[in-house]
Amino acid sequence: MIPKVIPDIENVTQTAYPITPATIEKSGTAPIEKITPYKTIAQNKYSLTNTLKTQDAKRDLIFALDPVSFAAHVVDFDLDTWQVRALRSPAKRQIFNCTRQAGKSTTAAIKALHRAIYFPRSLVLLVSPSLRQSSELFRKVTDLTDHLPTSPRLTEDNRLSLTMQNGSRIVSLPGKEETIRGYSGASLIIEDEASRVPDDLYRAVRPMLAVSRGQLILMSTPFGKRGHFHDEWTNEEPAWERIMIPASACPRITPEFLEEERRSMGDWWYRQEYECQFVQTVDTVFDYEMVMSAVSDEVKPLFAGVEK
Ligand SMILES: Nc1ncnc2c1ncn2[C@@H]1O[C@H](COP(=O)(O)OP(=O)(O)OP(=O)(O)O)[C@@H](O)[C@H]1O
Ligand SMILES: [Mg+2]
Repeated sequence: MIPKVIPDIENVTQTAYPITPATIEKSGTAPIEKITPYKTIAQNKYSLTNTLKTQDAKRDLIFALDPVSFAAHVVDFDLDTWQVRALRSPAKRQIFNCTRQAGKSTTAAIKALHRAIYFPRSLVLLVSPSLRQSSELFRKVTDLTDHLPTSPRLTEDNRLSLTMQNGSRIVSLPGKEETIRGYSGASLIIEDEASRVPDDLYRAVRPMLAVSRGQLILMSTPFGKRGHFHDEWTNEEPAWERIMIPASACPRITPEFLEEERRSMGDWWYRQEYECQFVQTVDTVFDYEMVMSAVSDEVKPLFAGVEK
């Protein structure tokens, strides 16, 4: 766990966040001219130059450049190291294989809100396996806005989406492939509980990033050796930044609790839920290793090229 970093706004140029090109690059955000300070968006009454003279504006500029400083004001706890990494990393593809209760949904909500506020006209898509989960995740986003020093002006606010005055939108989608068609140019897509999001939805999502060159983040506890979450975790494609957070690395989960879980839920369940392991699904006839050992790249498929 790293300490919460709230820079001294009086001496912003001497803090850990001097605003230099290197800082901007490190924080994983866009070049400075592409970022609109929050106050400017929220109240629309300062020019950037004027705003820079105020304490609020310095804070906003820090928030814009560093999602972790922003997070320090919207949640009342210190972020874990992996959450810091998730928020700051400039990687275009990230995959987090996490224990239950690691803080996945919270991190997704912070990331979404930061992007929408500081990058005008961003489309942020939050994808969850079910309507219930997408409603819950969206509620996390709206709860966070209550903690902002100034709430972003919304032009629209539905149960599952909000549009800000700066033109950014956050849309929380349940895991049905049809729901995602019709959106284009997403600058950030986060799949929460990705191991349970259907693969056809994932296939529909990916082309959206082609033009926008947006960021794609998958966060999940494993769910058997199947599906796109398992594939992306294991396929060694170098584009992905892969991070594993087992329960033993989560400071809020005690060894006593884990021992009790192992006893009552059984080893198979425990390894999946708390140790981030892609264990064989209980209902399969042939296990994964057996199937893979029967497959060879060297044999030409009998019906290759035959259309259905
Ligand atoms: N760094 C943190 N410090 C303290 N509490 C945290 C931190 N991150 C998340 N939490 C809290 O931990 C709880 C679980 O967070 P969250 O729902 O985001 O986890 P999750 O990984 O999505 O869980 P689940 O596996 O059940 O979906 C929430 O109460 C959240 O406020
Ligand atoms: Mg969650």
